[in-house]
Amino acid sequence: MTEVDFDLVVIGGGPGGYVASLRAAQLGMSVACVDLRESLGGTCLNVGCIPSKALLRSSELFAEAQHGLAAHGVKVGGVELDLAAMMARKDDVVAKLGAGVGGLLKKAGVRQVVGKGRIAGAGLVDVERPDATSESLRARHILIATGSEPTRLPGLSVDEKQIVTSTGALALERVPERLVVIGAGAIGLELGSVWSRLGAEVTVVEILDHILPGMDREIGKAAQRVLRKQGLRFELATKVASVEAGPAGVTLQTEPAAGGAGKPLEAEVVLVAVGRRPFTEGLGLEELGVARDERGFLQVDGAYQTSVPGIFAVGDCVPGPMLAHKAEEEGVACVETLAGQRGHVDHDRVPSVVYTWPEIASVGRTQEQLEADGIEFRTGKFPFTANSRARISGETDGMVKILADAASDRVLGVHILGPLAGDLIAEAVVALEFGASAEDIARSCHAHPSVSEALKEAALAVDGRALHI
Ligand code: NAI
Repeated sequence: MTEVDFDLVVIGGGPGGYVASLRAAQLGMSVACVDLRESLGGTCLNVGCIPSKALLRSSELFAEAQHGLAAHGVKVGGVELDLAAMMARKDDVVAKLGAGVGGLLKKAGVRQVVGKGRIAGAGLVDVERPDATSESLRARHILIATGSEPTRLPGLSVDEKQIVTSTGALALERVPERLVVIGAGAIGLELGSVWSRLGAEVTVVEILDHILPGMDREIGKAAQRVLRKQGLRFELATKVASVEAGPAGVTLQTEPAAGGAGKPLEAEVVLVAVGRRPFTEGLGLEELGVARDERGFLQVDGAYQTSVPGIFAVGDCVPGPMLAHKAEEEGVACVETLAGQRGHVDHDRVPSVVYTWPEIASVGRTQEQLEADGIEFRTGKFPFTANSRARISGETDGMVKILADAASDRVLGVHILGPLAGDLIAEAVVALEFGASAEDIARSCHAHPSVSEALKEAALAVDGRALHI
């Protein structure tokens, strides 16, 4: 190709796309980032991670003011919910962060193009702007970072008012009396927690016999116990057979996943949170012959190149954990490889965090995976009841669990249910990346009093020598 407008045209301005754009610009490439939304940041910033965490924090404070402060000798009376103010604060957090991302791209010299991108052929992206005008961008390389959308359940038509996905559940105008959540994954538990704290009676229907599939089972069970104590109800090994929505509410007919007679559930609002699927419609990929796997994810090689040379893809639309930070790492690895450097993302070392309270965080292999692979391992566990900082805060639910190779002591997996688990897990990620042994963590000095000492103690426990239990 002799003449191009840009070295790289990125389609999608979420964590995968905008971070790839920034890094590519740092590496000296001319970059355009195309997104339908004017507010960059994609699902994560606009209708995902950021607004959900804002509501989680606000609802935590509401619950704390009602039930938690008295134990600290702080008396408050007449605690009231102002849902409109809570939502407005969430919207403000989203708007400010979205503007921040726009500012970052501008500063880096990335051209932001608002509109729907379609790959018209090798090195050519057509953009249809919201005002129906269009523009063609000639690109040396094209990066698809269009993310994912909620998986729909057959027979359930989402109106984002009565039957909602996470998008609608982040913007309900009043607290539903009864909320049924279908799916006990990250979205179901986080948004179920929000509305339960704000006063809804929440029932989570899960097709499997356990919550949080993919997480370490022991940690998942412990999390379920804590969430149940907080008021969430669980109907496990249960599926939804039919749904009838009317002006008076929604009736769901449930039945045991294994078959047999079920029971009805009444709800004012139903949240469908049964996973997400790649969002690549309208990109022209079928015409170009871009290959997909059997689940619809775009197939990429080690350089994140699809089956069509010059077209790359990262994030939720390619295989691996569907997480913002995984997309970011892949975006960086992809453009660094384009610039002649080396980039790689090990999916086994991508941390996963569920922002319930306490938080649930994990990296590496679970006990179940190690058992299935016949890998000999040793386990070290330490409960937060024995951690002084957790006692100080009055947040003693949960534990740290470290799985280490039986022969080499190398850390294979770390699973945490507890206060600030989402931050604590960072130490475990670094340990895994550096090939640390449990003893390496155990011999590292951890500040006292801090919740991080629970990680050190769990590492000591791998060798049967925890000190504070
Ligand atoms: P998920 O895959 O985490 O969980 C979906 C749950 O629904 C599973 O437990 C599954 O067994 C269940 N399920 C599937 N079909 C069902 C049916 N017919 N009836 C009842 N249960 C059924 O998906 P989720 O929670 O929708 O989240 C989507 C994606 O977004 C995930 O990849 C998740 O990791 C990511 N996410 C991550 C967050 C975080 O990192 N904090 C927060 C929110 C989402």
